[in-house]
Amino acid sequence: MDKIVIHGGKRLSGTIPVSGAKNAALTLLPCALLTEEPLTLRNLPRLADIDGFQHLMNQFGISTAIAGSRPEDFGRVMTLQATRITSTVAPYDLVRKMRASILVLGPMLARMGEATVSLPGGCAIGNRPIDLHLKALEALGAQIEMAAGYVKAIAPDGGLPGGRFSFPVVSVGATENALMAAVLCKGKSTLHNAAREPEIVDLCNLLTAMGARIEGIGTSDLTIHGVPRLHGATYMVMPDRIEAGSYACAAAITGGEVLLKGARIEDMEATVQALRDTGVLVEPREDGLYVAANGPLRPVTLSTAPFPGFATDMQAQLMALLCKAEGSSVLTETIFENRYMHVPELNRMSAHIETKGRTAVVHGVDTLTGAEVMATDLRASMSLVIAGLAAEGETQVHRLYHLDRGYERLEEKLALLGAQIERIGAD
Ligand code: UD1
Repeated sequence: MDKIVIHGGKRLSGTIPVSGAKNAALTLLPCALLTEEPLTLRNLPRLADIDGFQHLMNQFGISTAIAGSRPEDFGRVMTLQATRITSTVAPYDLVRKMRASILVLGPMLARMGEATVSLPGGCAIGNRPIDLHLKALEALGAQIEMAAGYVKAIAPDGGLPGGRFSFPVVSVGATENALMAAVLCKGKSTLHNAAREPEIVDLCNLLTAMGARIEGIGTSDLTIHGVPRLHGATYMVMPDRIEAGSYACAAAITGGEVLLKGARIEDMEATVQALRDTGVLVEPREDGLYVAANGPLRPVTLSTAPFPGFATDMQAQLMALLCKAEGSSVLTETIFENRYMHVPELNRMSAHIETKGRTAVVHGVDTLTGAEVMATDLRASMSLVIAGLAAEGETQVHRLYHLDRGYERLEEKLALLGAQIERIGAD
């Protein structure tokens, strides 16, 4: 299997383009199920998860075409058209590889009156149930059945009536599924304590462009007035705030500077605040966000939380940066249990991190040292790359399929900043 080899200690400096957001793309793609007309998405990142989702959509009989992209470009344009849907089943084999497949449940149900999706099962960063997705769809009028590892959602004759649901826990995916079902309901729906991550706003904006009627966009109380049909649209995927935050940490840990072209500060205020608290300089610019190291790193104390709080998807990368702070930081992970798989690997690189339950204490060290490492999830893998960029000697990061799920051409972007990094094939 491929690996990434990094020779650490190079100061990063330069400009890199921020790609389209993976997590936005994964909820915009299933919107193609909601209309017979073409949906064109621009700025889709080139990632394994997007290819996987395209494959899943093809499985339903949806045509997909990629236009006008040269191999050297970042991002792609994809047009999807669900003129006829020939299957309403998302099979185990595809769902197992890509948990976000569950996001077809709501729109497929709304369009076809039924949808069957394999249960996603466990996941490396915790249990990750889908009970809230199902309860929200039930509140909109769906009947849910479970059999043989599959969940089947059925709408009453004549379609989903719509309804009211209050989320007991903020869930990004369950909010997305409920929204994509509610837009085609017969009546009005209200969602309370809904997630309000920027990716949810992106979803609402696309749905609105397709003719949906949604009130409260950007808040945790959404009112959706169902419409009989939606039409096609052309839409630009938002910039990836997590990718941007990751490269900010990468530049900062090397004492360097980066212009994150296209990054929007309003999507990542909590990350920006955390970076500033460590002493890193972050300034909005007309075309993005400028990030520069600014003297010794200070330790911080913070907890992950739903948006606008500090994103759980940035926890591992910030932790890598804090390994080099002058003092001890305290991080608490409140969203997922078991999201510290990067800790033993960082410690193998001479970091000094102790975990107790949901809390990690990161004692800053003077020197990180290169090692062979691997991680079991996407953001954990990125934290090892960040540590490797600052480590003495050579770091080899294995299990690249995690990074390929979420970072478009990672090694090329880091090389643009002057990193000594290369991907080496198995043989
Ligand atoms: C999404 C993101 C992921 C991010 C996470 C939290 C995508 C494709 N993934 O994941 O990168 O880390 O948001 O910001 O956008 N929960 C339940 N029952 C449910 C659903 C969730 O109990 O039915 C719990 C989860 O176990 C977790 C919490 O709710 O503790 C938040 O999860 P959720 O926001 O749903 O995460 P995802 O949508 O899976």
